[in-house]
Amino acid sequence: MLLLHLSDVDEASWAGKLRAALAPYPVVRRGDDFDPAAVRYIFVWKPRPDAFEGLSGLKAILSLGAGVDALLQHPRLPDAPIVRFVDADLSQRMSDYVVAHVTMHHRLYTRFRADQKARRWSQLYPPAASETTVGIMGMGVLGQDAAARLRPLGFTLRSWSRTPKEIDGVEGFAGAEAFDAFLAGTDILVNLLPLTPETAGILNSETFGKLRRGKLDGGPVIVNAARGGHQREADIARALADGTLGAASLDVFETEPLAESSPLWDIENCYVTPHIAAISDEASGVDYFSRVIRAHEAGEPLVNVVDRDRGY
Ligand code: NDP
Ligand code: OXD
Repeated sequence: MLLLHLSDVDEASWAGKLRAALAPYPVVRRGDDFDPAAVRYIFVWKPRPDAFEGLSGLKAILSLGAGVDALLQHPRLPDAPIVRFVDADLSQRMSDYVVAHVTMHHRLYTRFRADQKARRWSQLYPPAASETTVGIMGMGVLGQDAAARLRPLGFTLRSWSRTPKEIDGVEGFAGAEAFDAFLAGTDILVNLLPLTPETAGILNSETFGKLRRGKLDGGPVIVNAARGGHQREADIARALADGTLGAASLDVFETEPLAESSPLWDIENCYVTPHIAAISDEASGVDYFSRVIRAHEAGEPLVNVVDRDRGY
């Protein structure tokens, strides 16, 4: 039996589609009449503290989120394998966001927008894409997809990951000891890391001060599409004001929703979106998770299982 426990999304709609995809496998929702001990899989998004109560026969926890940082903090998380959402549609959506914001900053959007408002004809030439280095932090599923889509646009690419990577057309840096060297050649810093104790707060004043200056008019740029816990918002506001950063694109925030009182809303070179960089699509999710359950019920191993010790 599959139990759905989805908050902030249309759980009824997901249930209907999963029932159709998995029939005759039983699919239930929280309010239904069922025996918790018969539940083999639970599909979660923002599970409440009592979400896992009585689920003594659980084989796997299925996470609608690709990022599992919040799930791993759940106070009563059972010791079952966690399968996270990994999907071509999700990767495409994230890369859409990354490409849009990288190209916007590369073409000095902030500067020309300000000139337009001031009715000022000022010919400043953006660098060629090849002269602009995009540094991607996190070279996993999403980082690799973003790199593959930025590469044909001609950008110079580098990546930073925990373990070394050899990816065609991407200069790889790995580990804490290579972080400064990675930053020193980066003009546009894209964050696609998971949130772990090692990566929390990594987008801070010290990091910003180590980025390359002189290539992009106005200063280097950050694009954070991973988690708000990666960023120190007071540091970002200060860096945008004093020119340490030329601009920032932020899809995620320390506290979500972003408070109406946050200064970030009003900063002209700060581009705020409400955690929509890559929304998990229902049709793709139903296809993915029903395949996971069917394969596992047929005796195949689970895929995309989270390593709890690493935290992602
Ligand atoms: P993956 O697990 O596939 O990739 C994570 C990458 O980060 C890996 O390359 C890993 O290195 C690297 N990494 C982890 N810890 C460190 C560290 N301490 N130092 C350096 N590198 C590190 O994750 P995904 O690509 O699937 O997703 C990334 C994140 O994107 C998610 O965790 C989630 O928070 C966020 N996300 C945001 C969305 C949004 O709408 N804003 C939507 C979907 C996801 P290695 O390869 O060596 O293991
Ligand atoms: C995710 C997200 O992790 O939407 O999937 O942030």
